[in-house]
Amino acid sequence: MVSRVIPVDPFDLVLFGATGDLAKRKILPGLYRRFHDGQMPEEARIIGAARSELDDDGFRALVAEAIAEFVDERRSDPKMIEAFLQRLSYVPVDARGSDGWQQLAGKMQPGRIRAFYLSVAPALFGDLAERLHQHGIADETSRIVLEKPFGRDLASARALNATLAEHFQESQIYRIDHYLGKETVQNLMAVRFANILFEPLWNSQYVDHVQITVAETVGVGGRGSYYDKSGAMRDMVQNHLMQLLCLIAMEPPYHFDPDAVRDEKLKVIRALDPLGPDDLVRGQYRSHQGEPGYLEDAENSASRTESYIALRVHVANWRWKGTPFYLRTGKRLRARASEIAITFKEPPHSIFDEAGGDWRENQLVIRLQPNEGMNLKVMIKEPGPGGMRLVQVPLDMSFAEALGENGEDIPDAYERLIMDVIRGNQTLFMRGDEVEAAWAWTDPIIAGWEARGDRPQGYDPGSSGPEDALMLLHRDSRRWREIKE
Ligand code: BG6
Repeated sequence: MVSRVIPVDPFDLVLFGATGDLAKRKILPGLYRRFHDGQMPEEARIIGAARSELDDDGFRALVAEAIAEFVDERRSDPKMIEAFLQRLSYVPVDARGSDGWQQLAGKMQPGRIRAFYLSVAPALFGDLAERLHQHGIADETSRIVLEKPFGRDLASARALNATLAEHFQESQIYRIDHYLGKETVQNLMAVRFANILFEPLWNSQYVDHVQITVAETVGVGGRGSYYDKSGAMRDMVQNHLMQLLCLIAMEPPYHFDPDAVRDEKLKVIRALDPLGPDDLVRGQYRSHQGEPGYLEDAENSASRTESYIALRVHVANWRWKGTPFYLRTGKRLRARASEIAITFKEPPHSIFDEAGGDWRENQLVIRLQPNEGMNLKVMIKEPGPGGMRLVQVPLDMSFAEALGENGEDIPDAYERLIMDVIRGNQTLFMRGDEVEAAWAWTDPIIAGWEARGDRPQGYDPGSSGPEDALMLLHRDSRRWREIKE
C-alpha cells in the first residue's frame, strides 16, 4: 500500500535558525522529502534566516550537504535536488536588532500561506515575534512554529505564552512535540477510537497497569551543557511521555478536531495525582570501560541531574482509579526501544486447572520505534494430543509488513508536522494551556527532590537503568518489560 500524498497549498516558510543543527538534520531534509514526493508544491518557497552572513548560494550549498547526509539514496535525484534548491533563499537577520528585517519583508509574496518556524533558543521567541509584526511581515493569517523546550517551569512557560499572545492568536501558534508526529503515536488514536474491540476494556476494571518506555542508547555527549540544566524529567517526561500518557488515558473526543482532542488531553493532565518520593526513581549513567559517564559528558562533576527517570503515576478519574501508569525514560540504556504496554487483568474465574500450563495476562504492546507495530498476547491451547494445556502466543503485526510499506516511505515526524502547519491543522500540536498544565504537575515533583537533596542512583551504560527502578514495580508485585529492540 503506497501512502497517499495530498499536495498542500503554495506557501512561504521562513525558517529562523536555518543554519542550526535541527534545521540541517531534520527540517530541511524533511522538506526536501516532501518536495520529492510531490507534497510540497513547485511554487512553495523556503526562506532561511539566521545570523550568519550567507547569500542564497551559500545557503543552498549548506542545504545540499544536509540532503546528501540525511536523505536516503532512493530520493537522491540530482535534478530533483536542484529544483528544490531553487525554492530556497536566505536573509541574514539580527533577531535582537534591526538588520535584515526590511529585506525579509521585501521577500514575502502577498496572498500566500505564511509560516514562521522558530528553530532558535526560546529566549529569542519574543524578539522574533515582535519584529515580525513591527515590520509587517506577519499578519492574522500567518502561523508561528515553536520548538521545545517551551519553558523550564510553569512561570517561564506562562511568560512565553503571554509574550506570544501579544502578537499571535492561539490559533496561529504551533508548539511542536515531535512525538505527536510519529506515525505510531497517531495510530494510538486510530487503534483506540476506530475499533470497538479495545475501548470496552480500556479502564481500571480490566486494565491492571500500563507501562510507557522510551529508552535510548545515546548519551548526552555533545549537548551536555543544555541537558544538565534540564534532565530527563524536563527533557522527555514533561512533554513526550506525558503526551503518550494522554493519548492512552484520554476520553474519546467528540470529533477528531484540534480543540476536541486537546481538551481531552488537558483533562488527563489535570487529573494526575501529585507524586510522592516513593513514586519515582532517578538515575545517572556511570562511566564504564573507559567510556565517559554522565558527569564527564555533562562536564559537571557535582551534577545531580538525572539521565534516567521512572515514575508511578495515577490518573485520578472515574476511568482509571486504581490503575498505575509506570513511565520510564533514559539515556545509554540497553537498546533504543519505545513502547506502550497495556497489561490486562486476570479473567474472573479460571475453568482450567493448574496442570493446564502457565496462565499469563493478556498484554497489548504498541511499539513506537523501531519496528513500529502492535503485538497482542493471547492464551491458546498448546498444539498436540497432550490434553488441554495453555500457552501464550503473540498476535504480532509489524505496520511496515502489514501495510506493505517500506520504512523509508513513512514520513518523519517533522515532515508530517510541517505539512500540518501549512494545512492549518493544530491537532498534533500542544496548546498553551496543555503545556502550562504539564508544568504545573511537573514543578512540585522537581521541587520535591531538590528540597530533599536527592541524588540520582548510578547505573551501568547498556543496562536497563538503576536497581531501584526495578523495586518501584516489585513493590507492587509487577515487573518491567525487558528493554529490547
Ligand atoms: C528530544 C530530546 O526531544 O527527543 C532528546 O530533547 C531525545 O534528548 C529525543 O534524544 C528523542 O527523540 P527520538 O525521536 O529519537 O525518539
